[in-house]
Amino acid sequence: MRSNVNFNTKIIHNCQTEKEAGAIVQSIVPAVAYSFDCTTDAQHATKCASEIHYGRYGNETTKQLEQKIASLEEADDALAVSSGMAAISIALLSQLKSGDHVLVTKDLYGGTYSFLTKIASRYNIEYDYIDCTDTNTIEQHIKDNTKVIFIETPSNPTLTILDIEAISHVAKKHHLKVIIDNTFMSPYLQRPLTLGADIIVHSATKYLNGHGDVVAGLICGSNEDIAFMRQNIMGELGQNLNAWDAFLILRGIKTLSVRMDRHCENAKAVFEYLKNHPLVKNVYFPGDENHPQKETIEKQMADSGAVVSFEIDGDSKMAEALLNHLKLIIISFSLGDPETLIQHPASMTHSAIPVEELKEFNLTESLIRLSVGLEAAEDIINDLDQAFDKVKEEFRK
Ligand SMILES: Cc1ncc(COP(=O)(O)O)c(C=O)c1O
Repeated sequence: MRSNVNFNTKIIHNCQTEKEAGAIVQSIVPAVAYSFDCTTDAQHATKCASEIHYGRYGNETTKQLEQKIASLEEADDALAVSSGMAAISIALLSQLKSGDHVLVTKDLYGGTYSFLTKIASRYNIEYDYIDCTDTNTIEQHIKDNTKVIFIETPSNPTLTILDIEAISHVAKKHHLKVIIDNTFMSPYLQRPLTLGADIIVHSATKYLNGHGDVVAGLICGSNEDIAFMRQNIMGELGQNLNAWDAFLILRGIKTLSVRMDRHCENAKAVFEYLKNHPLVKNVYFPGDENHPQKETIEKQMADSGAVVSFEIDGDSKMAEALLNHLKLIIISFSLGDPETLIQHPASMTHSAIPVEELKEFNLTESLIRLSVGLEAAEDIINDLDQAFDKVKEEFRK
């Protein structure tokens, strides 16, 4: 583990422990079963979370990924799982039991909302969606049975910024744990554990892998929390990540900083274009110089990230028309890929949320989420421009 080098060096060299026949790149170990010299060793391995004994509880290649992300997020340990939603559900279930209550930021990924409302509620886990931009609001909603504050910053899709340090401070005062979804940032741009959060979850499907060919999740936290999640939730529910996908994410992470730099640069150019377009009402982007939470952004984020959301000056028909006229930009549910991806949250990623609640979350029918990719910024903007021109003609604006 290298701790005295820069982050850009760490993402390449940290936890490169496999040196089979001098190979620089880690091996893919497909083995599910492992051999033991005697029954005592085998019995010991089943009790010790850090020892690999059966594929559902861990694997040599995924272990390298776990060590890598733990080192980058400055965590004691990490767990690699089968999806971002597996990471979120495992993290929440590890801290909550029947009768407990969780405070949740009011605008967040639709899958997290669905998990809490449709699944966690069946096990008598209570939740409240609140505005976490104000720590007083958080304090007012803490109940005797509150155990966790779950936040996502920047949020999906309205890019609300939450002050991780201030929220963690409130949580500590009330003996609560803070779980944070760091998917939009990656450890290159934001390291929540250094600001007081307890557990980080990632959809590694997005920027960490970065190539749109793996579904995976990562959880970072204390040795105790990660051991419990590995043994009692991931292992028992079978939410493990396979070796091949772990290898691909390890490969993806090596280019994380160069990709994120280009993603951010392109997003800034797209933001400048959108904010001056007459058919655009509001643009949500952490790189906005006039962002209301600029101070918090500067404190906790190294750069803007590359998701830009905007409201078209019209209804959902107009929003959908814009998407349908694009030629280069792809309509898709994901984000963080090399390709620029666009989607309509109200009818796609967040369609599980009832319309009245969508409005409360500021998620209108005219909102569009753009994950700015790695293409030439000029080409992304030209594509948006030709689509806006067609919408203008169609709707005679
Ligand atoms: C912020 C955020 N968290 C979690 C997830 C879920 O990740 P996955 O699709 O890997 O389960 C997503 C998916 O889009 C997301 O945007």
